[in-house]
Amino acid sequence: MDVRTCAFVLFGLMGLTYAEPVKFLDCGSTSGKVALVDINPCATQPCQLHKGQSYSVNVTFNSAVESQSSKAVVHGVVAGVSIPFPIPVEDGCKSGIQCPIQKQQKYHYVTALPVKSEYPSIKLVVEWELRDDDNNDLFCIRFPVEIVS
Ligand SMILES: *[C@@H]1O[C@H](CO)[C@@H](O)[C@H](O)[C@H]1NC(C)=O
Repeated sequence: MDVRTCAFVLFGLMGLTYAEPVKFLDCGSTSGKVALVDINPCATQPCQLHKGQSYSVNVTFNSAVESQSSKAVVHGVVAGVSIPFPIPVEDGCKSGIQCPIQKQQKYHYVTALPVKSEYPSIKLVVEWELRDDDNNDLFCIRFPVEIVS
């Protein structure tokens, strides 16, 4: 088993042991409806994100519209101020979603959230949007996290 496979298996096992849906707030999903948010690994809530580690984010949602494209926009909200939070893959169509997006379909948006070691150790709220062709939100969710060393 190579390192990648091993990591997958480990993450899978951790998922089985710890995965509990993440409590989130909907911040205006006008083009869809969120069913479930999973972050892996996330043993406690709010999720503790360790610097230097990568987390998998899995948002299950239903679309209310058709869309050729989907683009993720992520912000960190610290003391009420929204700061862009870059992620490696912005294209939702390359994050587990088969595009074009169809109406009334269920999708799993799955992507990696790397936590850089230079991030400060703070609690913040992550705001994660996935925008359709018209810049409306297929989903917009907010969930608290804590960045720890
Ligand atoms: C995402 O979550 C859904 C619902 O729990 C699950 O069926 C699916 O397998 C997950 N996908 C990945 C890649 O983890």
